[in-house]
Amino acid sequence: MLATHHTFTTTTRGLDRTTPPMRLFEKAKRYGVWNPSDIDFRQDAADWQRLSPLEQEVLLHLTSLFQAGEEAVTADILPLLLTVAAEGRLEEELYLTTFLFEEAKHTDFFRRFLDEVAGVQIDLSHFHSPSYRTIVYDALPAAMQALLTDRSPAAQVRASVTYNMIVEGVLAETGYHAYLSALERNGLMPGQCQGIRLLKQDESRHIAYGIYLISRLVAEDDSLWTVAEDTMNALLGPALGVVADTFARYPVMPFGLEEGEFANYALGQFQKRIERLERARGASLQDIYQVTAHAIDHDDA
Ligand code: MN
Ligand code: FE2
Repeated sequence: MLATHHTFTTTTRGLDRTTPPMRLFEKAKRYGVWNPSDIDFRQDAADWQRLSPLEQEVLLHLTSLFQAGEEAVTADILPLLLTVAAEGRLEEELYLTTFLFEEAKHTDFFRRFLDEVAGVQIDLSHFHSPSYRTIVYDALPAAMQALLTDRSPAAQVRASVTYNMIVEGVLAETGYHAYLSALERNGLMPGQCQGIRLLKQDESRHIAYGIYLISRLVAEDDSLWTVAEDTMNALLGPALGVVADTFARYPVMPFGLEEGEFANYALGQFQKRIERLERARGASLQDIYQVTAHAIDHDDA
């Protein structure tokens, strides 16, 4: 990185507020400022006491996946901030400050649930299956930390596909969908439901940024499409494995959770993201702004 500043964006060309990252920054300043400490968990704590031991175990299991996942994405986003800052992409850096803040709040949110609702101080890492470890313990930090020594467009594509498309776009979205429908269907845990709904909005901005970043890179160099596709395909097996491992652990799943529904949901998310990214091939930057802006305005990345 430069040891001295030769110029400043905001005292020369200014900020381009029409770009997708500035639109995301605007949305994040409005919707990303909810406070996990304000969530009222009193009814949730009462609900927890009435659950069976199996129901408690399944909720702890799912929460342990979210908790470690949120901590991982908080820890692992920093090399991407360094990368966009080094390229002088100020609009993207401004947006990414909210991204990091939001992941920190998600980490805070789940720990409040574990402390104040479940009341557990035990090691939950036995819930992390081999497929989960492949992605969250290994592939995610490897792809992100690679940026510390290699900021090439290909390394950026690998990082963003792993982080935004697989960890957020397939794993987190599927997990939050499963968890929220389990609680809502059974009229349980209003505080946790409220937090997950807010967190899902934050995640949709994160995924929209990933779509924008990868699209921008692929549009500039079509050979990066293969890099994106290969990274997606390499991680699809372990991503679907996380769903399979979770269900395999429980002969009878409580809350009416069905494996097929979630495996299909995960696969559908994967397919949707591949199709979104493929549209960037041969597109102009203006096309990408337009498509991304539409997705941002409609919360549909
Ligand atoms: Mn998050
Ligand atoms: Fe996220």
